[in-house]
Amino acid sequence: MASGLLAVELGLAQVLVALAVWRLSIARGRVTSDDRWMQPEVLDYYLRGGELNRLSAGTGRLEFLRTWDILSRTLPPAPAVVLDVGGATGVYAAPLADAGYDVTVVDPVPEHVAAAAGLPGVRAVCGDARDLPAESSSADVVLLFGPLYHLRERADRVAAWREAARVVRPGGVVVAATISRFASVFDGFVKGFYSDPAFRSVAERDLAEGRHSNPGNVPRWFTSAYFHRPEEIPAEVADAGLVLEKLVSVESPVWMSGDALAGFLEEPSLLLDMLRLVEEEPSLLGASSHLLTVAVRDVAAG
Ligand SMILES: C[S@@+](CC[C@H](N)C(=O)[O-])C[C@H]1O[C@@H](n2cnc3c(N)ncnc32)[C@H](O)[C@@H]1O
Repeated sequence: MASGLLAVELGLAQVLVALAVWRLSIARGRVTSDDRWMQPEVLDYYLRGGELNRLSAGTGRLEFLRTWDILSRTLPPAPAVVLDVGGATGVYAAPLADAGYDVTVVDPVPEHVAAAAGLPGVRAVCGDARDLPAESSSADVVLLFGPLYHLRERADRVAAWREAARVVRPGGVVVAATISRFASVFDGFVKGFYSDPAFRSVAERDLAEGRHSNPGNVPRWFTSAYFHRPEEIPAEVADAGLVLEKLVSVESPVWMSGDALAGFLEEPSLLLDMLRLVEEEPSLLGASSHLLTVAVRDVAAG
């Protein structure tokens, strides 16, 4: 896998192609997503098109650079077959394909799929993490970057883990993203939402149950989701028959650095170097906005 930062930039041309495909698909009228895959408010949230550039600056840029750094130390070398479940508009699929991987995006939002399919070397299909449109043992890597924080029932999350376990080959790796139980409270505070009593009751429920909702569909608040406590994750992995390798904090507390973050990201190698030192520290996991879980399908289990 190419490790230079240049290799991870989603090129301007690719973003323009994705935007054009997005506009074309909206103009033509949307292909309906299967209602069982996604709650309507989650679909509406993604139809705003935010995933086209969410990771290009600020905390999103930190999330991208760190996720790429972790992937570059975790994935088998290219060429390997990667199923990018919840891959959205192909923000990871594009640089993975550039690096020589055989990448297919699976996502329930047709506009995401259309944008990803327009990227060089990327295949994309509509589908759901709980019922993957892929053969058993057909992938070297399954990425679950999205589904686990939108599936609010534990049984659904375990179903997604199980599908990843079915599709990855014995010895293959599953890398999954979750959002920390505490992220919405800190994020809401930093962004000034916490003074709103409506946000505060949302945050209190998030903390108590992890089940996040946005009852008034307030545009700047996140949509329906599930926020994990780090200690919940190993049992979900085990219930799917996978072997947990590690839990890694993506941003650590650095995502709350405010105005200083832009400066850290101008030349990010020092920041990335420092974050590698603390990424597996258990006492810091819940302070990160996102966690990545690395799990493998046991070769002996077949
Ligand atoms: C915040 S985006 C993440 C996009 C990208 N993978 C990333 O990490 O930046 C979450 C993605 O998960 C997808 N998603 C939500 N529920 C899903 C499900 N049940 N199965 C597969 N993908 C799902 C959404 O459509 C969306 O594209």
